Amino acid sequence: MTKILEIKNLNKTFKKASESTKAVSDFSCTMDEGECIGIVGESGSGKSTVAGIIAGFVKADSGSIFYDGKELVFKGKAAQLQRKSMQMIFQNPTSALNPHMTIFENLKEAVVYYEKVDKKAFYDEAAAELQKMGLSSEYLDRYPKELSGGECQRATIARSLIGRPRLLICDEITSALDVCVQAEIIRYLLELKKSGISILFITHDITLTSQLCDRIIVMKEGKIVESGFTKEILENPVSDYTRLLVSAGY
Ligand SMILES: Nc1ncnc2c1ncn2[C@@H]1O[C@H](COP(=O)(O)OP(=O)(O)OP(=O)(O)O)[C@@H](O)[C@H]1O
Ligand SMILES: [Mg+2]
Repeated sequence: MTKILEIKNLNKTFKKASESTKAVSDFSCTMDEGECIGIVGESGSGKSTVAGIIAGFVKADSGSIFYDGKELVFKGKAAQLQRKSMQMIFQNPTSALNPHMTIFENLKEAVVYYEKVDKKAFYDEAAAELQKMGLSSEYLDRYPKELSGGECQRATIARSLIGRPRLLICDEITSALDVCVQAEIIRYLLELKKSGISILFITHDITLTSQLCDRIIVMKEGKIVESGFTKEILENPVSDYTRLLVSAGY
C-alpha cells in the first residue's frame, strides 16, 4: 500500500510575548492512500495545528512530513505548490468562500492559481461538481450569502474537489451544521473515500468517526494519547481520556 502521508515527530510552540503554548508535541503518524484517519480531542488539543502544518500554513518548529514519498517544506510558494493535490476544508463555510464572488467564481478561483481555465468548459465542470453535492447548477450564479449554512458547506466541498485532490483535510467541517446535514456530508465523504481519496477528518465528536474513519488518533494537550482502529477504540478505549470522549459522545 502506498503511504500518502508519513509524519515524523512534529513539534510546534506558539510564542507570544512572555507566553508560550506547546500546541503539538512529537506528533507522528502514517496514512495509506485511500485511508480515512480521524483526529479527535477536546478543544485546544492541537488538532487544527497539526492540520495547518500538513496543509502548509503553519510552520512546524521541528519534524518532517513526507507526502507521496517526498519531503514537504513548511512555508512559501514552494510549500503551496508541493501541496497542490491537498485540499483543506474548515468549520465555517462562509469564511472559506469570497462573499463578493458568485459560487461559480469561487470554484474557478480554486483552480486558476494552478492552471489556465476555459470559462465555458469550467462552467459545466463546476455544475457537475455541485450536482454531486446535491446542488443544482442554478447555485453557480448565487452569492455565498444566498445559500444556507449546509448549502455553503457543500459548495465549499465542491470547491475543494474541483482540482481533483488526493488528500482532503476536513477540520470540523460538520460542527456548524444540523444533524441531518451533518449525516449528508458524512455520506458524501464516504462516497469520496470509495473513489480513492484519502481523508484526514478532524473532529471533537468521536462518534462522528464511527462510519467514516478506518483509524483514529486521540489527542490531548498536543500529544497523542491513543491511536488505533476505529472500532477497537470506540468499543475498548484504553485511556481514561478516550473513555471520557466516548462516553460523552454517546
Ligand atoms: N496562532 C496561534 N497563536 C497562538 N496560540 C495558538 C495559535 N493557534 C493555536 N494556538 C494554541 O495552540 C493550542 C492548540 O490549538 P488548536 O487550534 O490546534 O486546537 P484544536 O484542537 O484545533 O481546538 P478546537 O477543537 O477548539 O478547534 C491552543 O492552546 C491554542 O490556543
Ligand atoms: Mg481546531
